[in-house]
Amino acid sequence: MTQSPPVITLVHGDITDQHVDAIVNAANSSLLGGGGVDGAIHRRGGPAILEDCRKLRASHYGRGLPTGKAVATTAGRLHARWVIHTVGPVHSVVEDRSDLLASCYRESLRVAGELGATSIAFPAVSTGIYGWPIDDGARIAVRTVREAAPASVTDVRFVLFDTHAYREFEKAL
Ligand code: AR6
Repeated sequence: MTQSPPVITLVHGDITDQHVDAIVNAANSSLLGGGGVDGAIHRRGGPAILEDCRKLRASHYGRGLPTGKAVATTAGRLHARWVIHTVGPVHSVVEDRSDLLASCYRESLRVAGELGATSIAFPAVSTGIYGWPIDDGARIAVRTVREAAPASVTDVRFVLFDTHAYREFEKAL
């Protein structure tokens, strides 16, 4: 039996406004916050998220969450049940790190499936402070979600902050 792919929606806006089961955070390996989406999620979600992140660092990730992996915490005051934190690769012109970027989407979807989340919102991981070109980042995101979404995750949203990113995701779809 073939598995039906999830419905993929593009949203132009702020990921912290999304009403979904799980919101993905483009974090860094410290899990202790930062700028960009990470800053917005912690500001809006409140201190409960950081508290969970600290516990995870103490219990499982003393040296930080490795690049390409994903882990869930509470979503605090956000309209979501969980925040799934993933660490994107910093873009490099001398080394192809595409597998690590694909892994962020794959691992986040795997965690969402384990949690029982049916809807998930992704930002364009690594395409801000970590410098990944948005056209390539969009292609990797769309391809990986199509390939790796578990059957239980039926609603996948890419939430793009600016018009240029939105257009590149439209092209990739
Ligand atoms: N909603 C949706 N997208 C957003 C939002 C938002 N509220 N804010 C920014 N973006 P970035 P990275 C877009 O830099 O490149 C942090 O300091 C943004 O325009 O948030 O993976 C972490 O702690 C861009 O397209 O994440 C790490 O240190 C995309 O989200 C580092 O940045 C990702 O930009 C991670 O860098």
